[in-house]
Amino acid sequence: MQKKVTKAIFPVAGLGTRFLPATKSVPKEIMTLVDRPLVQYAIDEARAAGIKEFIFVTSRGKSALEDYFDCSPVLEEELRRRGKTDMLELLKQTDMESGAIAYIRQHKALGLGHAVWCARRLITNEPFAVILPDDVIAADVACLQQMVETYKKTGGNMVAVMEVPPEEISSYGVLDVQEDMGSIVSVKGMVEKPAKEDAPSNLAIIGRYILSTSIMCNLNKMNRGTGGEIQLTDAIAKDINDGSGVYGYRFRGQRFDCGSKAGFLKATVAFALARDDLKFELSKFLEEEIIKINHAAQ
Ligand code: G1P
Repeated sequence: MQKKVTKAIFPVAGLGTRFLPATKSVPKEIMTLVDRPLVQYAIDEARAAGIKEFIFVTSRGKSALEDYFDCSPVLEEELRRRGKTDMLELLKQTDMESGAIAYIRQHKALGLGHAVWCARRLITNEPFAVILPDDVIAADVACLQQMVETYKKTGGNMVAVMEVPPEEISSYGVLDVQEDMGSIVSVKGMVEKPAKEDAPSNLAIIGRYILSTSIMCNLNKMNRGTGGEIQLTDAIAKDINDGSGVYGYRFRGQRFDCGSKAGFLKATVAFALARDDLKFELSKFLEEEIIKINHAAQ
């Protein structure tokens, strides 16, 4: 019987330079897909998976994130006065039980592995999840929830994976597959951002992990990897060498890379088209724009 996964780490310390100038004063994780910030999608997914404690690894300039999950008495009072009960209801998504959320600063930008390691004192002897809010996954059953269900059977460490085209593989951590069992693959190695010709497979790690505490011990060694950074992928790969199971999980759902502008826009369109209040107007607009592009190309 595995211990329950009740804690999740959200590494959100990045500068978000791909979204400058917006990210000069707005944390990337607060940027909105339609009307909900990226971080809300991540929190909702974690809650669906049974996570009770939320650990954010932040950096300077991210205070808007803390305000987002705080109550806002002036705003709430004003909405109450105006009888806006629907809006008060919407705000409930941002409610956090006191003590359920923690913020830790990553003082130096030393990589994803280092960010996760910064939360080590809040993780005791229990498995924990890591969610990268840049990776937004639309799914009938939340991706992390799918993983938690599967993890109950496998134990070990688990990473979400999907197939990516060869020309994109060098942007990801990549699995060296031991055995492909369909939705689960067992792993004999992992490599962070390999050159296309060195990639051991086309199975890329997507930003969802369930990890054992031994990963924190591996990160303690502070070994630098790709790009001179302390890589989470390397710390997980070390567990394979130490004899622990590592599994890739092919999730059901559509992943959007919201760390890129194109991915962010695709997610915005997809989430807007899924909404009854927006889909008609937006699809009509998109059709007209596509017709214009086709005409111009002729
Ligand atoms: C990180 C991880 C990488 C993973 C990716 C998923 O890379 O290091 O292994 O494949 O997230 O989005 P980053 O995109 O932060 O460079």
